[in-house]
Amino acid sequence: MTGVDADETVLDAARRRREGHCLAAVIDFAHARLEDIELAVASHDVVLLFNVLSYIREPQALIAKAIATLRPGGRLFIKDTDLQSDFYWPVPFDVHSSIMRAIVSGTTDGLDGYNPFFARQVPGLLRRFPGLRVSTFSQSFSFFAPLAREEREYVRANAALVSELAVKAGALEDVDAWYSLFDDGREGSILDGADFTYAMNEFVFQAVVT
Ligand SMILES: C[S@@+](CC[C@H](N)C(=O)[O-])C[C@H]1O[C@@H](n2cnc3c(N)ncnc32)[C@H](O)[C@@H]1O
Repeated sequence: MTGVDADETVLDAARRRREGHCLAAVIDFAHARLEDIELAVASHDVVLLFNVLSYIREPQALIAKAIATLRPGGRLFIKDTDLQSDFYWPVPFDVHSSIMRAIVSGTTDGLDGYNPFFARQVPGLLRRFPGLRVSTFSQSFSFFAPLAREEREYVRANAALVSELAVKAGALEDVDAWYSLFDDGREGSILDGADFTYAMNEFVFQAVVT
């Protein structure tokens, strides 16, 4: 089993997590861009593309490579997210919708190929490949007030990512309204509200090579 990532610091973290893991003896890591690695045809049973295709400029080419390396009966799993599925309550509807509209309609130049709405494209991409049996799953999780410290950090990091995307899309006016809601230093931050709820969906697609 080989885990691939283009970022060495991510691989270091993965190596630390491998220590003492029951599968440690069969897990290797490779530092590479997925676009650059060569994989022998029909040589693998399973390929997992977890939260990575949304960063790839030509995801269809990578899916083709993944399918080609699978043996008959082999399985490709794609897991990814879609920003529209993130739910922050009670962010005012107009603030959330204006920031989403700004991200969708803004420039994508600064995103380095990252597509925050990628998951919705996966079924259409997989339909382009004949001989696949595709199933779709969704998993969701929610945090309710009062938030634990880790939950609070998670929500703030996600809200910060949304701000960053909006800034890169050129939506400077919308970002202040959005980000100030999550500002920990501010009295009455939305994160301290008795009703605060965060929920998100992750989408998992399984394609079996028939
Ligand atoms: C959101 S993180 C997901 C990390 C991990 N796969 C997971 O699910 O927890 C995206 C990862 O994709 C990696 N990445 C982005 N573009 C890549 C590429 N072209 N080839 C390999 N890895 C890439 C980044 O270094 C980053 O670690």
